[in-house]
Order: sequence, then structure tokens, then C-alpha cells
Amino acid sequence: MPNEKEYTLYNEKVMDHFMNPRNMGDLPAADGVGEVGAAACGDIMKISLKIEDGRIKDARFKTFGCGSAIASSSMATELIKGRTVEEAMHFSNQEVVDALGGLPPVKIHCSVLAEEALKAALDDYVKKHPEVAEPAPTKG
Ligand code: FES
Repeated sequence: MPNEKEYTLYNEKVMDHFMNPRNMGDLPAADGVGEVGAAACGDIMKISLKIEDGRIKDARFKTFGCGSAIASSSMATELIKGRTVEEAMHFSNQEVVDALGGLPPVKIHCSVLAEEALKAALDDYVKKHPEVAEPAPTKG
């Protein structure tokens, strides 16, 4: 349960994703898995991706961390589903912050963790599928 301080810090949307996180868990046979930690607070976030035909078909997260980190990973997994790998590579924590209706300044780094976990999962996918990193052949 969140403590009283967390209730006063967060808006309703953040609280919703904190209390009812979407896409929590692991993906069996994930195509890419990324796990990162925040040095400052020690929180850990893992994102697993299912990718088909260069598009993110499914995403799951596991977060050992604060309410903001849980809400950020929940929102990030919602936002990236359906995007191409290329589009997801440009994903920014600001998208998470905006979609959550804002985070307290001291909690912005929690959304950065979601961006880093996603990018680590994409890196893992590219490592396992080097062909996707190759530039497309030029015409003519
Ligand atoms: S306080 Fe560590 S990720 Fe939020």
C-alpha cells in the first residue's frame, strides 16, 4: 500500500496506474528483455517485449520500486504496444510523463527508468535479431 506521502504527491492518473497497473508480469518466450536499475534509489525495472514483423505486439513489466516507477512502467507498456521497433527506439520518458498528466519533479527519474528499460529490451531484441539493425537496401 502506498504511504500517505505518495497519495499527496501523485495525481489521479498516476494513482490509477500505480494501484491498477497494466501489463504487469513476464512474457513467455519474449523476443527482447531489458532490466535496468536506478543508481540513486536502487529501484529495478524489467520490460519484456513480444515483437512480430518489426512491431511490438505485447509488452510486460516487473518493477521493484516506488509508485511513480510502477505507474511509469505501466503507462510505458501501454504506449509502446503497436509501435514499430524503429518508432520505439525514439520513445522518450516525456511521453510517459505527459500521458500520466505529470509527475512531481523529484519523480521524473522514475519515468526515465521506463525509457531505459524499454531501450534495453529493444537492444536485446536487436542483438538477437541483427538483421533488423541492418540498413534497408537503397533503391536504384
Ligand atoms: S524513486 Fe526510484 S524509480 Fe522512483
